[in-house]
Amino acid sequence: MPFRETIKSLRIPVVGSPLFIISNPDLVIAQCKSGIVGSFPALNAREKDGEPAMLEVWLKRITEELDRHNQANPDRPAAPYAVNQIVHRTNKRLERDLEICVKWKVPVWITSLGARVEVNEAAHSVGATVLHDVINNTFARKAIEKGADGLVAVAAGAGGHAGRQSPFALVQEIRQWFDGPLVLSGAIARGDSVLAALAMGADAAYIGSAFIATEEANAVDGYKQMIVDGAADDIVYSDLFTGVWGNYLKSSISAAGMDPENLPTSDPSAMNFGSGSSKPKSWSEIWGSGQGIGAVDRVVPAAVLIDRLAAEYAAARRRLLGEEPAARSVAAE
Ligand SMILES: Cc1cc2nc3c(=O)[nH]c(=O)nc-3n(C[C@H](O)[C@H](O)[C@H](O)COP(=O)(O)O)c2cc1C
Repeated sequence: MPFRETIKSLRIPVVGSPLFIISNPDLVIAQCKSGIVGSFPALNAREKDGEPAMLEVWLKRITEELDRHNQANPDRPAAPYAVNQIVHRTNKRLERDLEICVKWKVPVWITSLGARVEVNEAAHSVGATVLHDVINNTFARKAIEKGADGLVAVAAGAGGHAGRQSPFALVQEIRQWFDGPLVLSGAIARGDSVLAALAMGADAAYIGSAFIATEEANAVDGYKQMIVDGAADDIVYSDLFTGVWGNYLKSSISAAGMDPENLPTSDPSAMNFGSGSSKPKSWSEIWGSGQGIGAVDRVVPAAVLIDRLAAEYAAARRRLLGEEPAARSVAAE
């Protein structure tokens, strides 16, 4: 299905973004059943040596559970899901993972850290949409030249690897030449902000950090609580942990014995996605998060978070259409 058709079929125009280690089938299934695109990085599905590919086990489960849901609920079918591929030379699993995604006809592919023609061709061979994530207009042009169908514009304040540019600047520049599917990422955690992304020219919003504070997310309780307790001031931008600039919770850095206000810099040669074990310590002890977590005030099932986003989105629309009097900043209960 063309991605714009997919977006129209969603309850709200949101993609639950892929989160290293954290996204798992439970979260993806809950997101899709609640009417937003759910996603996970292929590298999260790891098997022990000699065991069958965990990626295949996950895709089978997601496909079957969503099919069952669709048969039982023809009036509110699940949204399609997406798999994220880290297209970096150190990802030794890429070729195998692509074959598995082709076999299971994964409907949406999200590519990061490198745009490659053959990955796009593999996706297109099964009618899938490819969204490539970019942090600036130059990378955006390259991604489309190499055959991606759409873009995820990762602006300043996004969790994990993030850009430095204002979302306004990024979307304005991309929209000057690209009229295809565009998803905006970075610090979006309320339904009002989803509508703002659309007003700016994006087709959908990409939400990551808010989903860390859900019951389904594969994160320890301390991490979830730090998302609930934290706000933009609690986030630091650093390239130390993976060699790529990203946003992290300062308290997790202090807990690991470092001073988050005085971190040394690293360089891109530190990147390593070999067999899915990209410095897992960095990501399990140093916790990634975007700046939008001030909007997150409790750990809830993903369906409850999506209900909140949908209610806020609808209220913001009514407000802008003049059907509701004053702007509210309190979170919808
Ligand atoms: C802990 C964490 C892990 C992430 N891992 C990935 C990943 O493996 N692949 C990817 O494409 N993006 C990854 N991201 C980035 C998200 O997909 C997305 O751009 C970001 O979460 C959006 O900003 P937000 O967190 O402020 O909502 C990660 C983000 C976080 C917070």
